[in-house]
Amino acid sequence: MARLQRKRECHVHGTRVLVYKNTSDLFKDAANELFETLRRKPDANIGLATGATFLPFYKYVSSKYKIARTSFSKANTFNLDEYVGLERSDMHSYFTYMRTNLFSKIDIDQKNANVPDGSSKDPKAEASRYESKISRLGGIDLQYLGIGQNGHIGFNEPGTPFGSKTHVVRLSASTIRQNSKYFGNGKMPRSAITMGIKTINSANKIVVIAVGKAKASIVKKALTCKPNKKIPASSLKRNANVTFMLDNKSASLLK
Ligand code: GLP
Repeated sequence: MARLQRKRECHVHGTRVLVYKNTSDLFKDAANELFETLRRKPDANIGLATGATFLPFYKYVSSKYKIARTSFSKANTFNLDEYVGLERSDMHSYFTYMRTNLFSKIDIDQKNANVPDGSSKDPKAEASRYESKISRLGGIDLQYLGIGQNGHIGFNEPGTPFGSKTHVVRLSASTIRQNSKYFGNGKMPRSAITMGIKTINSANKIVVIAVGKAKASIVKKALTCKPNKKIPASSLKRNANVTFMLDNKSASLLK
């Protein structure tokens, strides 16, 4: 009996899509992309995402990077976004998420692990500083992205101009509904600093990861609709450097 393929590759309206039978293979391939980038360019700038989707990814990366003969010692990382008003040490900040799940487990020079500072007294100035630092260091070589159920990438909510750079954003009602669960009884922030849609699309290579049934509908929309501001992820369709990595569930509505 022929061995079932671990993944299939297709193009949906011109965008490269990989669909995996097992999510463990998906995260392994996603991590290998990072390891290959670091082997080729040890001082690469890596764009990182948060959310539940990326927990298995960071687990794999932190446990295997040494075996993969890679090092983060010369690399810079730039996270996509951070809530405004949270101290870095706040248990709900994306900085804490990153420190817990990745930065404390790899050999990165902590000063090269960049997350927008949500506790800044002047979030707009912090957003411009962040954007300038990304360009000063030569831009993002490899960007990882998740996708929100409303189609947001980073925290670029529906309606964000495709030409946007790192900026302060008011979170949409649907994002507040979706992410409130992480804040328990505490009130979640209403705004965030996020890399802009242009910042994201300027990366040399972009890997979008979506898993689970809850993402099936937005994945289908993002890949098949005309690029439009209502669905920020649809901006990626204009970009030849993008690969979507999906499991069978998130890909279930694609023909
Ligand atoms: C969050 C983050 C995004 C992330 C998305 C999906 O709000 N700002 O960067 O991609 O929502 O999160 P999850 O992986 O938990 O579904």
